[in-house]
Amino acid sequence: MRMFAAQYHRFGPPEVLVTGSYEEPHAGPGQVRIRVAAAGIAPVDLAIRAGLSRGQISLPHVPGVDAAGIIDEIGPGVSGYAVGDEVFGTVDLKRLGGASAEFAVLGFWASKPGKLPWVQAGAAGTSIETATRALDLLDVGAGTTLLIDGAAGGVGSVAVQLAAARGARVVGTGRPGSQDFIAGLGATPVVAGPDLVGRAVELGVSAVLDVAGAGRLAALTTITDAVLTIADFSAAEHGVRMSVGALGGEPDGQHGLQIAAALVEQGQGQGRFRVPVQEVFALEDMAAAHAAAGSGHRRGKIAVWTGLVDSQDD
Ligand SMILES: NC(=O)c1ccc[n+]([C@@H]2O[C@H](COP(=O)([O-])OP(=O)(O)OC[C@H]3O[C@@H](n4cnc5c(N)ncnc54)[C@H](OP(=O)(O)O)[C@@H]3O)[C@@H](O)[C@H]2O)c1
Repeated sequence: MRMFAAQYHRFGPPEVLVTGSYEEPHAGPGQVRIRVAAAGIAPVDLAIRAGLSRGQISLPHVPGVDAAGIIDEIGPGVSGYAVGDEVFGTVDLKRLGGASAEFAVLGFWASKPGKLPWVQAGAAGTSIETATRALDLLDVGAGTTLLIDGAAGGVGSVAVQLAAARGARVVGTGRPGSQDFIAGLGATPVVAGPDLVGRAVELGVSAVLDVAGAGRLAALTTITDAVLTIADFSAAEHGVRMSVGALGGEPDGQHGLQIAAALVEQGQGQGRFRVPVQEVFALEDMAAAHAAAGSGHRRGKIAVWTGLVDSQDD
């Protein structure tokens, strides 16, 4: 059977993306297939589209690692979930894509809280996994004052809230135009300027998570020894640990999906955990969605809406 899906037939800029017919995937052992309501765009999707994993994937390729939707097929060995359940999560990352389509097969997922809008759920998976993994590795908890360098983006905006929920004090860097957004997430906002180290020391920062990968590791290591990066490949030169996740054989932070879902259920009003979504595109406009995701100045995620379920805000 065929489905409709975003796809590209050659590597290149966002314009290589088209929407068309594609072979339906099916749930393997330990997996579920969903009818996709919404999907997210992660930096890795842009890198793969540009040719990063040339040789590891065959073309045409369906992009996307994060999605939310309604289970329509259950793979062998899956218990506790039924056809019709609303879930959100990530594809089997070894496939390097498959989420931006009518049907997607998830390798990791959690039940979607009713209070979490579809577009937030669709964009959430890898941001929550990555943030949780990083906070675990830094042992962030009550008593930590955590600096998140790059707090306004997809991972940073979620990491701020998850760290605060652990009882940590959070300081987050961002451009001048992102300061109010970062404060609204629950962090003390700081502009990542020349006095960043001084401000961080003044604020008592005891651990640093580099999300921006902005080439500041040498400076960040003067604040504390507890520095972790997810984005700076020069980490070893600075004696800093880099976390690359399950693809690098590391334990993953998928338990974060359940934690985040519980925070959504428990939260009220303004303080409720959310996955900030900056802009939503129709699946047919995937080229524009990728262009937006690659244009910088993030305040949360770029999401894609398929129109296959009734409402964006159920
Ligand atoms: N290792 C892993 O497991 C893993 C997993 C997920 C993501 N990542 C990587 O982590 C990084 C962040 O991912 P994301 O999803 O959060 O990306 P994103 O949504 O594009 O956000 C990136 C953030 O970094 C900020 N930033 C970038 N360059 C900056 C600079 N020179 N100075 C100050 N701030 C800067 C951005 O601010 P502006 O938008 O205002 O520029 C934005 O807030 C990406 O490099 C991604 O590839 C790694």
